[in-house]
Amino acid sequence: MNPPLALLAELTHRCPLRCPYCSNPVELTRASGELTTEEWARVFREAAALGCLQVHLSGGEPTVRRDIVEITRAAHAAGLYTNLITAGVLLDAALMARLVEAGLDHVQLSVQDTDPAGAERIGGMKGAPARKEQAARLVTQAGLPLTLNAVVHRQNLHNLPLLIETALRWGAGRLEVAHVQYYGWALMNRDALLPTREQLDEATRIVDAARVAHRGRLMIDYVVPDYHAARPKSCMGGWGNRFLGVSPAGRVLPCHAAESITGLDFPNVRDTSLRAAWEDSDAFNRFRGTGWMPEPCRGCDRKEKDWGGCRCQAFALTGDATATDPACALSPDHGMLAAAVAEATSPDFRYRGFD
Ligand code: SF4
Ligand code: FES
Repeated sequence: MNPPLALLAELTHRCPLRCPYCSNPVELTRASGELTTEEWARVFREAAALGCLQVHLSGGEPTVRRDIVEITRAAHAAGLYTNLITAGVLLDAALMARLVEAGLDHVQLSVQDTDPAGAERIGGMKGAPARKEQAARLVTQAGLPLTLNAVVHRQNLHNLPLLIETALRWGAGRLEVAHVQYYGWALMNRDALLPTREQLDEATRIVDAARVAHRGRLMIDYVVPDYHAARPKSCMGGWGNRFLGVSPAGRVLPCHAAESITGLDFPNVRDTSLRAAWEDSDAFNRFRGTGWMPEPCRGCDRKEKDWGGCRCQAFALTGDATATDPACALSPDHGMLAAAVAEATSPDFRYRGFD
């Protein structure tokens, strides 16, 4: 069994933005259910002892936590490389200075669109774009490495060249161009977000050209959309293989979206150790390795490359988490993805939020 490489610490589901593709579960945890500072500190120590090298301090928006500086300090003290995944709208100079002093190593800042009106509409927050630019400035002035993360879809892909220019202008060393993955909120908004084949091909061409043009200055990661694929992605690098997440309420997850699969009982850091959750829990062992696979995965030579694709997507689309991911052309359910692309329109967003 491999040790996990990184811990995704979802500190909170609270967020001033309301992106319609949010990766948080549809049923959000309220502030009263969140782990305390001390509980997170213990999680970080246990993660480091288990072999994790880095922690992604995420949400929701992690900086809504009043103890974000203490949490960062605890992660640093545990020996973890600390990455803050933020929308940036709550960052000011004083908070930035305190985070740096606490040991923050890296910031990943989300961008909804380069067009301010589009960004406000997609993120569901007025004034966010200017605050994000200010946040980028604070990060680079503090001397921290900056990654921009842009989730792309049919309503912002036309601005991809400007997005690359923005990353260069803001001093980012890395840009993640991530097509929406369709679970939870994004699945609810699928018709409004799915790109056309033409949009995807143009985006791929733009990314390929920019990688060459800006080599050595800007690294571009590119996550392609399953709905136009013939083979699935290796989601999470394999279930229980590399990825470990802890939800705001302390549930230990093999994938940030794993709670969307009903019938799995997730261990909680409030009553179990991270090591026991990783090594012994049914939730982690259920889809670990290849023994659980049905045909066609069982006899396929790619089964240790993509691990049968994504369990959350298989469950969301077929109701069976053991099914071959429909993103695979060998899946009997593959046709439903092309049908979804053909039917996509641009209805209004259904924004994420608490009930
Ligand atoms: Fe991957 Fe299964 Fe498709 Fe083979 S059949 S490519 S293992 S998803
Ligand atoms: Fe959960 Fe792919 S998103 S396994």
